[in-house]
Amino acid sequence: MTIVSPSILSADFTKLGADCRMVMDAGAQMLHYDVMDGHFVPNISFGVPVLKSLHKGMPAAFYDVHLMISHPLAYAEPFAKAGATLQNFHLECEDDIQQTIDAIKAQGCKVGLTIKPGTAPEALAPYLDQLDLVLVMSVEPGFGGQKFMADMMPKVQTIRGYIDAMNPACELEVDGGVDSGTCRLCIASGANVLVAGSAVYKSADIPAKIKELRG
Ligand code: DX5
Ligand code: ZN
Repeated sequence: MTIVSPSILSADFTKLGADCRMVMDAGAQMLHYDVMDGHFVPNISFGVPVLKSLHKGMPAAFYDVHLMISHPLAYAEPFAKAGATLQNFHLECEDDIQQTIDAIKAQGCKVGLTIKPGTAPEALAPYLDQLDLVLVMSVEPGFGGQKFMADMMPKVQTIRGYIDAMNPACELEVDGGVDSGTCRLCIASGANVLVAGSAVYKSADIPAKIKELRG
């Protein structure tokens, strides 16, 4: 069964806790927490203190933390302490990849590696056996509500092949422009975790939308 991880970047921040609880009650298995530093991407979102508050209110939720930041290594410990379940950082960041994987694992978190649309899947191969999740971006990171890049699907298929051969327990997530139509392409290409921000939070019937996104 496909896992849906709503991106809370599209939530109403005046009632963020309630908006998180609502999608969990509606059948989401993860909460996708988009951290942006205004450097790795041209936008700033939220960071450690907001996660800490959410985790305090909802300690049992799975926090799928997507770090769109240039220096994830220094934040492995603060995000772990704030309640991250999984820390998902970019292969294109400025820190040493192996050191960052080791630091996140040492904090007791699951670890994911994310690639931007311009990055080839081969670049992930050296790390694949150590990962709990691979995230393929289907938009340029930085903003919600962008158009899905269907030309990323061959890359998802290639990575599905790597995962099946090297680390079958690893999850394969797609993020950006996922909606009722494009979710099928992702699932058919081998993804098993789908991030959806606008599609979920703009829906009039959120439980039905989450069900639909599962394919
Ligand atoms: C983009 C973020 C995404 C985004 C998804 O930089 O990583 O998680 O919030 O939003 P939608 O589903 O609206 O494309
Ligand atoms: Zn994201």
